[in-house]
Amino acid sequence: MKYIIGNWKANKNADEVQKWIAAFKTHDLAVLEGQVEVIICPPFPFLPLLHEAFKEFDHIKLGAQDISQFGAGQYTGEVAAHSLDGLVQYVLVGHSERRRYFQETDRSVELKVEAAQSGGIEPIVLVRGPEDQIPLGVKFVGYEPVDAIGTGDTESLPQIQDMRNEIGVDATQVFIYGGSVKSHNVRDLVSAPEVDGVLPGGASLDPEEFYTLIERCLHL
Ligand code: PGA
Repeated sequence: MKYIIGNWKANKNADEVQKWIAAFKTHDLAVLEGQVEVIICPPFPFLPLLHEAFKEFDHIKLGAQDISQFGAGQYTGEVAAHSLDGLVQYVLVGHSERRRYFQETDRSVELKVEAAQSGGIEPIVLVRGPEDQIPLGVKFVGYEPVDAIGTGDTESLPQIQDMRNEIGVDATQVFIYGGSVKSHNVRDLVSAPEVDGVLPGGASLDPEEFYTLIERCLHL
């Protein structure tokens, strides 16, 4: 079972999301069952729309792109785990863009992981390399080398395999690679037993490219 996590980042409006859903649903989604788990991570406002659209598919799940390190309460602008209840199963924590533009640190990542876990949401902790800490009890670890994000150049498979060890991912954890994953390069990556899944950003924005990418992860 491979994981394919589509990170839409700060893209799309409601009209574009409706079109994405309609186009993606023209494909046979039932054939994916049992082979892959697809996790779509849209901006917060579109979670209910996507939830409704894919609720009949157990293998298509939703993730948030961030979560508040605080609980519900007086934290204007934040989205607490409680508000995500019933909408998402996963949340991305510590993306390099959040570390870079929003001053996230290992400490805030730790607090967000705790907030997710106590809210029954599975955190997917994203690291740039061994320099970023992975809090205890985290099952999903995403390795995203900054130089590979949005550049069209994935890191080489041997480097990714080495990094799994260097980061200290063990056999009980799920290791995801992200950084310029596209339909044309995904199969080589997911064919490696050390790579449990991928995290495409740009390639998840187009429903045709995203479906093709998923198809290339079948029958491994
Ligand atoms: P990319 O983004 O696939 O567009 O490189 C990946 C990510 O940053 O999660």
